[in-house]
Amino acid sequence: MGTQIVPSGSFVVGKKSEQSLVAHLGSCVGLTLVDRQSGVGGLHHILLPSPTGADTVFEPATYATTGVPLFLEKICSSGAAEERLEAIIGGGALVGPVSELDMVLNVGGRTAEAVQSFLEREGIMVLRSETGGFFGCKISLDLHSLETRLDPMLQEEGEVDAHHEILSPSEVEEAIRNVQPIPQIALKIIMMIQEDDYDMEDVAREVRQDQVISAKVIRLCNSAMIGLRSGVDSIDRALIALGEKRLLRLVVSATVETMFPESARGYSLCKGGIFQHALGTALVAGELAAFTGLSRPDVVYTAGLIHDIGMIPLDQYVAASAPFFYRNMKETQRGICELEKERLGVTHPETGALLGEEWELPPNLVDTIRYHHEPAAAEVDLELVTLVYLADLIMSRFRVGQGLVSTDGQALEENLRRVGLRPDQFPELVERIPRNVFQAAHLA
Ligand SMILES: [Fe+2]
Ligand SMILES: [Fe+2]
Repeated sequence: MGTQIVPSGSFVVGKKSEQSLVAHLGSCVGLTLVDRQSGVGGLHHILLPSPTGADTVFEPATYATTGVPLFLEKICSSGAAEERLEAIIGGGALVGPVSELDMVLNVGGRTAEAVQSFLEREGIMVLRSETGGFFGCKISLDLHSLETRLDPMLQEEGEVDAHHEILSPSEVEEAIRNVQPIPQIALKIIMMIQEDDYDMEDVAREVRQDQVISAKVIRLCNSAMIGLRSGVDSIDRALIALGEKRLLRLVVSATVETMFPESARGYSLCKGGIFQHALGTALVAGELAAFTGLSRPDVVYTAGLIHDIGMIPLDQYVAASAPFFYRNMKETQRGICELEKERLGVTHPETGALLGEEWELPPNLVDTIRYHHEPAAAEVDLELVTLVYLADLIMSRFRVGQGLVSTDGQALEENLRRVGLRPDQFPELVERIPRNVFQAAHLA
């Protein structure tokens, strides 16, 4: 049976078929509507409760208040009768460790409420509504049976606590040594960005000479997350479509990608999940820099790209005790670093900082790696670290691709203020992120 992923901010309607529609929900809300008699069903993946006006490219399906009416219209025009519709609602979780502010903002909860009240007004029967909670879920609609399933996004129960090892300092060192060195071209670009002194010809020459990297850059240009409208088939075209600086960002991203593990067993729940998280965080961080006018967007982008590199050497160890991590984060709501400390004896920020020093990355980037879960402790560039912290938080709240990447939200308010933002601007901030950054989850 085929599976069609429904990205956030969109809906899919279908007739009886062997297909199923699936959405992975964190703070997002999933709504299925079915009419058994006519055999029509659909799934809507909703990101936010209602528009605030900051959405520059207004996409109505993103919101409950503007999207659900369109979804309803579509399903009725596909042959369903409104009076026979049955609805099931899921998602709207507070993902990760939750602060009081999260409770107050409760974006997911408000989205679910907006969906509920619309259905109520329309007199549509809600068979089941499982929203809220602290962990993401998968909603799927089988278009053959027209049944909706809600499955918690947990790994297999049962294989708990299979493995438990505290790493000694020499084991950590060895794990770091086993990471392949950062590609020279990545380092070169990072330094160019750092020093604000660009030699594009030099980079272009190197990229053209390296088949693997050019192919990767082109693939990245055409990926859902970057979302270029026209197809790119050469570095020259990429340069035209993106301009020098954006192309440079993609080159550094593509080279960094080669270093991330592809497994779906450790920190990430899907193949390539850690890199997807890194790229998404970089894109969001760059937006935040532009939005706040603090720090240079390109520097913030690279910091976002590499903030979790400590996961590279630790991934294999986390894979061994992944179910423990999932269960514990869910049950005790403890942060990832606390669990790493308990389980492995080291955290990914600590390990990443060591790796960054080994590569001789600039001090502000090592600072970001070391303190991105506790920005107040930053030693070199408080604003940079805070921007990456916020980008990381936005990525982990609104995408569920990587279950273990969750940021401690206790200090969200304080951190927003540090970069000159009010907590009530948070939803607006989320809204400014290009939609495809969220939509690309699981697909890339
Ligand atoms: Fe992290
Ligand atoms: Fe992260």
